[in-house]
Amino acid sequence: MKPLKIALWSELSDRKPIPVLVEGIDLVIIRWDEQVSVLYGRCKHRGALMADGVVEGDNIICGVHGWDYRLASGVSAYNNSEALDKFQSWVEADGLYVDVDEILAWKHQHPQPYDRTAYQGAYADLHGTIEEPSTQYIHQLAREGLSKVGHHGPVAAMGVPAPTLPQWDDLQFVTAQLARLPQLDDVSVGTELVIGPRAKQPLKLDIPLFVSDMSFGALSEEAKVALAKGAELAGTGICSGEGGMLPEEQAANGRYFYELASALGQTHTFLNTLGVTQSIPTQR
Ligand code: FES
Repeated sequence: MKPLKIALWSELSDRKPIPVLVEGIDLVIIRWDEQVSVLYGRCKHRGALMADGVVEGDNIICGVHGWDYRLASGVSAYNNSEALDKFQSWVEADGLYVDVDEILAWKHQHPQPYDRTAYQGAYADLHGTIEEPSTQYIHQLAREGLSKVGHHGPVAAMGVPAPTLPQWDDLQFVTAQLARLPQLDDVSVGTELVIGPRAKQPLKLDIPLFVSDMSFGALSEEAKVALAKGAELAGTGICSGEGGMLPEEQAANGRYFYELASALGQTHTFLNTLGVTQSIPTQR
């Protein structure tokens, strides 16, 4: 045993959590009346310092989200599987002592990840929760900015994993087989497509492809305008997506497809600005 004085008993306020760092381990001292506990000093939820919490009745309450631990045992009355380990402590000649050997043995079993010299130091939330899976990513951005992910950050298509989307190799163009004989390789063939050939204003595309629906916001202005221009050069159109739309994008392409998203409350007035005359179906 290696005793270490961590506080003066006469200076410990009643029911006020006190932090102390021993061998790199955060501890919290709580005195209530003539009793005292020295508990592991970090909340089992997300590692907040319990010394920043408060004592209510028989419990110390984490100041961040309110997890509770019994003063006497460190065990949560709400959920007994949540417990702050309790260390031996004793009072001797106005000194409050702990056993350094016990704390070192505990440290060996529970290596601590906190680096007080790093970003957020003692207050880092190092593991987050299942409910908030983006916390670590937000911290990374706050710490490193966009230096490791590029100017636009990580790019994902509306949360759809790219490998599950159709690939170019999945497309098969059956140009002619039985009804018409296939042409030889060097014969040029038309790729144009007319949708609604008897409509007042048929949609004519030079190729049977268009740039699909990703709205401004999901994609940047630069990306949307570049795609609109590229589609125009290829003789095809681009779709608005269901979110924000850019006048610059519409100006850059003569075949602007408007995605009528029922949830977004688009109006006749808006459709008229696009030259669209059909009515909007309503649901009751
Ligand atoms: S960190 Fe303590 S309750 Fe959430």
